[in-house]
Amino acid sequence: RLHSGESIPEWFTFPEVVNILRERHPANAREGFALFFTGLSGSGKSTLAQAVLARLLETGSRPVTVLDGDEVRRHLSKGLGFSREDRDANITRIGYVASEVVRHGGIAICAPIAPYAGARDEARQLVQAHGRFVEIHVSTPLEVCEARDRKGLYAAARAGKIKGFTGIDDPYETPASPELRVDTSQRTVTDAADVVFAWLKSEGLA
Ligand code: PPS
Repeated sequence: RLHSGESIPEWFTFPEVVNILRERHPANAREGFALFFTGLSGSGKSTLAQAVLARLLETGSRPVTVLDGDEVRRHLSKGLGFSREDRDANITRIGYVASEVVRHGGIAICAPIAPYAGARDEARQLVQAHGRFVEIHVSTPLEVCEARDRKGLYAAARAGKIKGFTGIDDPYETPASPELRVDTSQRTVTDAADVVFAWLKSEGLA
């Protein structure tokens, strides 16, 4: 332990020592976790993420950070497009920020489309270095997402005005073994949030 006024010895900055100090910090006493919602545009990811956020804030005492698809693209991933390379970079950035939140004992809620399995796995690896990664596939079928078409993007993609739209002319690789799968065409958002929240409780995470 350092006394006030005492200068920091050089060995205090060694990575091994920094790691020990980090683990001893009270904010890190409880493990953080990331909720990673993935699914097609219009599948209900953001709405579901907001509903789960509300529940976590209502009951929990831990800081929660939301990394929503559209929000992230306005800030963290500004300038990136929708090529495979750019989408992968976007997901890796989200994974990195989530891993930092988790490292500090917080909860990171992510809600990008994240269409490619490889990038999702990379995000998982980044987060799992510090805590749990909960992949939630929002599995609302394409027909339902397209019928909703809240932003008119599916119509634009069908008309060829947007190229490389996920589910139309760009792939969505269905998660093979997510921790959870929720279909928002089968239940209300509130019910879907209940399913997620009940699962988190059963895992001791909420
Ligand atoms: S990704 O693939 O995970 O990097 O995508 P994400 O960052 O989540 O951004 C998805 C939102 O961008 C809008 N948009 C598109 N989506 C899919 N394909 C193409 N080509 C595209 N162009 C723009 C769309 O509004 C997505 O928003 P959500 O909220 O998912 O509907």
